[in-house]
Amino acid sequence: MLPQSFKLGLGVLLGAVYVQAASLRRDSTVFDCLTQNKVAYLTSSSANWTAYQAPYNLRLSYTPDVIVVPEDDDQVGASVRCAAAANLKVQAKGGGHSYASYSSGGQDGSLIIEMEKFDEITVDQSTFIVKIGAGQRLGNVAEAIYNQGKRAMPHGTCAGVGIAGHALHGGYGYDSRKWGLALDHIVGLDVVLANGTCVHTDATTYPDLFYAMRGAGDSFGIATHFYMSTEEAPNSVLWFTAGLASSLSDANTAAAGFEALQNWTLTSPDLTPNITYGTYADSGGSFSFRGWCMDCDQTVFTNNVLPAMVAGWPGAQLTVQSLGWIDALTVLSDPDPLPQPLGHGYAKHDTFYAKSVVSKDDEPLTPATWLSYTTWMLANQGQGPWFSINNLYGGPGSAINAVSADESAYSDREALWVFQNYGYTANSLPPWDDKITVLIDNLNDAITNAQPDGNFTAYLNYVDPDLSPAMAAQDYYGASTYDKLLGLKSEYDPAFVFWNPQAIGNAMAL
Ligand SMILES: Cc1cc2nc3c(=O)[nH]c(=O)nc-3n(C[C@H](O)[C@H](O)[C@H](O)COP(=O)(O)OP(=O)(O)OC[C@H]3O[C@@H](n4cnc5c(N)ncnc54)[C@H](O)[C@@H]3O)c2cc1C
Ligand SMILES: *[C@@H]1O[C@H](CO)[C@@H](O)[C@H](O)[C@H]1NC(C)=O
Ligand SMILES: *[C@@H]1O[C@H](CO)[C@@H](O)[C@H](O)[C@H]1NC(C)=O
Ligand SMILES: *[C@@H]1O[C@H](CO)[C@@H](O)[C@H](O)[C@H]1NC(C)=O
Ligand SMILES: *[C@@H]1O[C@H](CO)[C@@H](O)[C@H](O)[C@H]1NC(C)=O
Ligand SMILES: *[C@@H]1O[C@H](CO)[C@@H](O)[C@H](O)[C@H]1NC(C)=O
Repeated sequence: MLPQSFKLGLGVLLGAVYVQAASLRRDSTVFDCLTQNKVAYLTSSSANWTAYQAPYNLRLSYTPDVIVVPEDDDQVGASVRCAAAANLKVQAKGGGHSYASYSSGGQDGSLIIEMEKFDEITVDQSTFIVKIGAGQRLGNVAEAIYNQGKRAMPHGTCAGVGIAGHALHGGYGYDSRKWGLALDHIVGLDVVLANGTCVHTDATTYPDLFYAMRGAGDSFGIATHFYMSTEEAPNSVLWFTAGLASSLSDANTAAAGFEALQNWTLTSPDLTPNITYGTYADSGGSFSFRGWCMDCDQTVFTNNVLPAMVAGWPGAQLTVQSLGWIDALTVLSDPDPLPQPLGHGYAKHDTFYAKSVVSKDDEPLTPATWLSYTTWMLANQGQGPWFSINNLYGGPGSAINAVSADESAYSDREALWVFQNYGYTANSLPPWDDKITVLIDNLNDAITNAQPDGNFTAYLNYVDPDLSPAMAAQDYYGASTYDKLLGLKSEYDPAFVFWNPQAIGNAMAL
């Protein structure tokens, strides 16, 4: 008879050996399969592994089982089939900027498809539709389409963000009230499905797949190429800022400015879709207002419009600069230049935790909510570090909200404000301090708790890893969109090959 403790130890040991043998078998299955299909791949012992493995957010640094670097659609298809046969979960990596590191799998042990070889950017000179490879980044896209006929597109401010994750899950910029989200400019996609087949999808070909990819792309397929409509670049952009530090003297003053801005936003005929703006505040005492007015009269804007917007903040320090299109994008991306290296050549990182709050167009924030927000800002100077950005998505005439909620899986078409509350480490490197997580949770709560009937949601592209799958389903999609996506998931990916902790299917029907 063996003593009980020894038996227990043996059992654990055997279990460990068994698990290791199973994972070795699984690994050799997937490696053999990739080799047979001539797909280049890296494992943790490969040269350059760290450069391929590192996510943008070093707080959540998962270790994939294997990273494949396919060169064409067939190799992406083979990668997906090899992963499915070996029971590995799959995520694509575009720019790698997922706040939750879902492009590293969101767990250890996934198969990651690094899209860095998909680098094409070609504008069709008759339709002005641009074909973009899924490994491209926003700054390169902006420059290339401008150089091919002065074309432009709405998208975010940072040049290093990937077009793929960004456009599949939203994509907001200072032109979005005029042109909508990056997602709204997708007119077609080449997509590798869970069974490894590559299809082209658009509004009339696999329309339900086209619906699902735009808003839930991470759960439905690997987009290899994007076909996106473009706009004529504006002749000029007024880049405006207002320094608001003098309003930080007390929370009531700062809050009254927000309330006045919201009043102006909801009622002024001067708010055209040409105008998009936001506020920025941080733990170091910065507090400012900034935005764009596209193709606007500089004198009228400078003398009448901007002063009215910030009239509620006494002592605001105003600047207005008229810039050409590429210069305007460059100012927003500062200090990063527009050209950015693809894939593993990109070396910028942060270590952070962020949450968002999305408010409804027909439920403006109450004076009490603004006061709760500014009170938190003042009480938490020197903490964190943190910053909080609040952007206007809605208001009269916003192109974001002109799209119907059932046009795509990105169904939040009634947002007014979108807050991004972001905590990070002082040197942008690990280790993480859990106190910063609590701080950011408290900042979110300062907004949402002040308005219990606010019906707040969250922004898909600021994916929040601390939401349960059910909360994520509710906050990002809402019941009717989520339940529709559940049905489509069982059709297109019944074995859940495309997976991250909040993927469609991880929560039950709402
Ligand atoms: C510094 C910074 C600035 C930002 N600024 C803005 C901004 O101004 N406006 C805004 O709206 N957002 C902004 N964001 C958020 C950004 O839009 C999202 O993080 C976006 O999802 C990143 O896309 P990516 O390709 O870089 O990320 P990735 O991490 O590569 O991808 C994000 C998700 O999409 C999936 N995915 C990637 N490629 C594919 C593909 N080819 N097919 C299917 N699924 C794919 C990934 O698996 C992952 O789940 C910013 C983020 C950062 C870090
Ligand atoms: C590692 O990356 C460098 C730079 O991209 C490249 O030149 C080199 O070929 C890579 N080495 C391997 C083994 O992939
Ligand atoms: C905002 O508008 C409301 C309703 O008209 C008004 O009561 C309030 O005083 C205004 N607030 C500011 C700061 O202008
Ligand atoms: C808005 O932009 C358009 C060009 O896109 C321009 O014709 C129009 O004058 C602008 N409106 C205002 C109020 O500036
Ligand atoms: C919240 O908003 C959704 C979508 O507009 C709506 O269906 C729902 O009734 C709202 N809930 C509350 C409590 O107001
Ligand atoms: C792959 O899945 C798609 C969508 O479900 C289907 O149309 C196609 O026939 C499948 N291909 C194969 C080879 O099974």
